[in-house]
Amino acid sequence: MSDLKEYGKGRDFVSSTKMNYFHYFLKQLTGYTLHPATTAAHGSSPLRIADMGVQTAIWALDVADDATLSATVDGFDVSDKFFPPPAWLPSNVTLHTHDITTPFPEALQGKFDVVHFRLFIMVPPEKMAAMLQQAVMLLKPGGCVQWVEHDKTRLFPITAVPGANTEAIDAMIAMEKEPFPNYNAAWVNDIGPAMREAGLEVVVEDRLQTKKSMLLQMNELHLLSLMDVPPGLSQAIDDFKEKWLDHVAEDNRRGVSSVDGFIWVVGRKPLA
Ligand SMILES: C[S@@+](CC[C@H](N)C(=O)[O-])C[C@H]1O[C@@H](n2cnc3c(N)ncnc32)[C@H](O)[C@@H]1O
Repeated sequence: MSDLKEYGKGRDFVSSTKMNYFHYFLKQLTGYTLHPATTAAHGSSPLRIADMGVQTAIWALDVADDATLSATVDGFDVSDKFFPPPAWLPSNVTLHTHDITTPFPEALQGKFDVVHFRLFIMVPPEKMAAMLQQAVMLLKPGGCVQWVEHDKTRLFPITAVPGANTEAIDAMIAMEKEPFPNYNAAWVNDIGPAMREAGLEVVVEDRLQTKKSMLLQMNELHLLSLMDVPPGLSQAIDDFKEKWLDHVAEDNRRGVSSVDGFIWVVGRKPLA
């Protein structure tokens, strides 16, 4: 889903619920919002953070609330549709509408300790290069980019009961690998190399799987994500919903699931 126009579709409370739920899911899975390598680079100093593609601002608000970080967060998104009202933001969070592939005002350049990207669905190479180029411009020397994505290259079925039928979940896994024409699930493997290309030193490339105790939550996220795609946008998703969605939901309750992967990449801007 590389075209910005695609982000205009399906934007309702299902989209925001999905993203807010995904945030708490990832936080429970890892136990953190900022990777320990990101915070370690800065010791106990207050952090100035840029959150790129902030959407509902759930990550920005959580990080800003974390008393151990003492963070000030600027969130950027091409649309303010999901921004909370400014009057409800804490004083250490500011939200801006800005296309993150384009230059930022000079007053912001070289001012950030951390630049955060998360859950962009798919980013083609030229857009990733532009996003990272802008991130590097925003960072202070020694600052870090943290990028977190859903890794759909490693989806596989799992059953709580040996021999359970996996036909529906197999269909979902096949569909998730190509939900849209020209979707390339392997794009997440390009994040590390693109960071190096942008002049960052990659200090972390962690991969995690959903743990068994969280499989039902991940299933709910899959179902919410599919509900969030409006009819007509993807033939593969429309066909899947028609034929398999109810079966997947029923099978999930009986202990049939997919195991999903996630990737965390942290890159540091050299000191000189
Ligand atoms: C799937 S949401 C992820 C939200 C958030 N990063 C999170 O993890 O909670 C992707 C967000 O990126 C924004 N986005 C995509 N391309 C963008 C661009 N070029 N400039 C600014 N925002 C962009 C979309 O509008 C959307 O709100």
